[in-house]
Amino acid sequence: MDRQPKPEFFHILRTQQFDRAILDELCDLTTAIRKFAKTREGLNYLRGLLAHKRAMLYFTQPSTRTFLSFNNACQILGIQTSEIRDASTSSEVKGESLLDSLRTFSSYVDVVVMRTKEEGLAESAAELFDHIKRRVPIVNAGSGRDQHPTQALLDIYTLERSFKEMGGIDGKTIGMMGDLRRGRTVRSLCYLMKNYRNMRLVFIAPEQFQMEDDIKIHLQHHGVEFHETKDLNSALPELDAIYITRIQDEYDKSGESKGVDLGKFKFGTEHLKMMKPHGVIMHPLPRREEIHTDVDIDPRAKYWRQERNGMWMRVAIFVKQFKMDHLIMHGHLLD
Ligand code: NCD
Repeated sequence: MDRQPKPEFFHILRTQQFDRAILDELCDLTTAIRKFAKTREGLNYLRGLLAHKRAMLYFTQPSTRTFLSFNNACQILGIQTSEIRDASTSSEVKGESLLDSLRTFSSYVDVVVMRTKEEGLAESAAELFDHIKRRVPIVNAGSGRDQHPTQALLDIYTLERSFKEMGGIDGKTIGMMGDLRRGRTVRSLCYLMKNYRNMRLVFIAPEQFQMEDDIKIHLQHHGVEFHETKDLNSALPELDAIYITRIQDEYDKSGESKGVDLGKFKFGTEHLKMMKPHGVIMHPLPRREEIHTDVDIDPRAKYWRQERNGMWMRVAIFVKQFKMDHLIMHGHLLD
């Protein structure tokens, strides 16, 4: 059979780069890694897998989960880490350009994971590394309002697992609620929808926070059905999953979020009965008031599991990036 070579899984910059094959592969790899991690022997094996690699965690925007899950993913694989979490402690304060700083990291480490408020910086860094022929992959761990590709991957994994008994993600209706305009998590997830069959999206947001045109044009181009509404209650019964996000007011220019009435865009226990019995409730976290804490005990609330899936998906990302996946997928430990 004439097989197309698979696109290389090297820099991780934006979700448009992923096709269905790689998404399925990463989900299977994540599940296999979790099986390894259930035994002491498996954990010891994982800890040796990338013990010859070093990672730079460059996180100059606030982060709890993404930072900790990448850091723990490194620990699971034996990867040594260095970190910068505050640009004011780096030579940027001496006037060094961000790209020069990033070039410096590439002198010391084998992979750079970066979260920045700037959009497009991960792409520029990847271009620079390619140009100077440094084989150091860049992983975008959140680039301003634009993209959060590794979050989208863990979201796909969480959805696939939640719908395991129901044919997976294909054919499902997914609602997204909150700050869709500036939410990089929902934006990145939207770009992945073209890889699944017969998807429908429902964007639930006040007008000021509705999804941007770039995403809508992309969805139209790929024939992914979507519609917009301000009415959570009428949308809920048709949803297989709802993905809720917080208002991203750190990107406000002059406090404009304060003027928006968010009262109708909150999920409480009263909404549980409107959802399908197999419905899935997700949130990238951190949450504020958009999901009541009483919802947490409902088995359909998957956000804490989603958070934990993030660590395992990030282990899988490194394993795949450093081409160790065959050792996991065909390793004797799974027999
Ligand atoms: C998200 C982010 O940073 O974009 N958090 C995360 O990575 N889990 C969502 C958010 O901050 O609202």
